[in-house]
Amino acid sequence: MGDDAKQGIVQRGLEGVIAAKSGITHIDGQKGELLYRGYDIRDLALNCSFEEVAYLVWNGDLPNEEQLREFTMELKAHRALSVRTMALLRGYPITSPPMTLLRTAASTLGILDPRAESDAVHTNLSIAIEITARIATVIATYHRLRQKKEPIPPDPHLPFAANFLFTLFGERADELRERIFDKCLTLHIDHGFNASTFAARVTAATLSDIYSAITSAIGTLRGPLHGGANQKVMAMLQEIDRPERARDYVLNLLKQRKLVMGFGHRVYKTEDPRATLLRQWCRELGEHTGQTKWWEISKIIEDTMMEEKNLNCNVDFYSATVYHMIGIPEDFFTPVFAMTRMVGWTAHILEQYQDNRLIRPRAQYVGPRGRKAGAVRRAPRTKGQANRGAIDVPANSKTGPQQTGARLHCSGVSIPRGLAVGSHQPQPLIEVMLVAFQLQVLNLGDCHGPVDLRGLV
Ligand SMILES: CC(C)(COP(=O)(O)OP(=O)(O)OC[C@H]1O[C@@H](n2cnc3c(N)ncnc32)[C@H](O)[C@@H]1OP(=O)(O)O)[C@@H](O)C(=O)NCCC(=O)NCCS
Repeated sequence: MGDDAKQGIVQRGLEGVIAAKSGITHIDGQKGELLYRGYDIRDLALNCSFEEVAYLVWNGDLPNEEQLREFTMELKAHRALSVRTMALLRGYPITSPPMTLLRTAASTLGILDPRAESDAVHTNLSIAIEITARIATVIATYHRLRQKKEPIPPDPHLPFAANFLFTLFGERADELRERIFDKCLTLHIDHGFNASTFAARVTAATLSDIYSAITSAIGTLRGPLHGGANQKVMAMLQEIDRPERARDYVLNLLKQRKLVMGFGHRVYKTEDPRATLLRQWCRELGEHTGQTKWWEISKIIEDTMMEEKNLNCNVDFYSATVYHMIGIPEDFFTPVFAMTRMVGWTAHILEQYQDNRLIRPRAQYVGPRGRKAGAVRRAPRTKGQANRGAIDVPANSKTGPQQTGARLHCSGVSIPRGLAVGSHQPQPLIEVMLVAFQLQVLNLGDCHGPVDLRGLV
């Protein structure tokens, strides 16, 4: 039995595989339980600020008053962007998708931080705090720039959530929006070994720097099966538009075996506790803003999905309408998710550095074996790949290619070297046509497979 075969069952998508020990987040998908450092997410969201929960996730314990004061000051102190970062942001195209911009910006922050190349980065929590503070300003700044408006400097009097909305909108959001947004940030801080966090840990496990690990995470989060789902949920709700259309719309998607975004989860087999809170806030914000239709449409979709597929909604389903009613643009839903997940990612990166082992799974090889590379290589012809004006000599041509001086000879046809596949020498059109004609006359048209003459020219 081959080495690959001995490895046993393949866990597609690493489903159910426990890849490491972690003391940050506990998820029980059967019970619908989510704990950060031992505290229930509902308790934290309802009773603590984002700053308190971030401190908890990074340090392991909730802060006392003094610790919270110092930590909040530190977070505020790093909100401003340097002149160089601002100049670079102004240089990016304002048409970039926000997640593309964010991925590039995270990498840029690394270029501008000389500590990124030192070992200090492996243990330094203050770098994680700085990145989290700055990324929030990067997101708000980009939104202003793409609206052709001047960026708003952070307000040192405002807490993290309120300041973010202020720098995004250019004015304070109302009290309910600020309060609910602060709680939303808590819900998204961490979620165990989800795809983006795992990507961050894989990068950190090579002892690469924290900025590279975050860049990997952002690239992973942007996919619609992960962080990009709530944007798609909002697009779906806007298309449905009226509650009376919701049921048929979903039934139609299911009939076509299409995914209904915002439903299903790899880990939760019952209701995700974050969805319970978000549903409640969706209703509250709907009444507050006079947009109850989003809650009504969402509820019908939820009931239909339960009835038809026995699937619960996930965190992305109600976060879409909550963010929408707070006033966040749809294509900023995922960057906002990334902004708060920065806390979780960096906590995991630091945890990985502390007890590191290279993450390196194996694949079960299912490809062919024992193949031999022949003397003549056959180049597969794909559309548009062949050189313009190049002649491919048929594979089974009787005499095979031979080289004499400036020309190649095949089945008696003399081919200028510039016409062979892979040659870059320009050839007159008349010469190209003449060679093509000779090959045709010699009835080599039934031969299949071009011969790549790159080795000869
Ligand atoms: C999250 C997700 C990727 C989990 O995937 P998974 O663990 O691999 O689950 P599976 O794809 O194996 O789904 C199991 C079954 O439920 C169905 N299903 C899962 N999510 C579904 C959805 N959103 N809409 C319709 N059917 C869904 C699958 O088609 C499959 O049905 P089948 O057994 O008849 O083929 C998947 O549920 C999904 O794509 N959801 C939509 C995107 C989304 O909301 N992502 C945010 C996640 S927080």
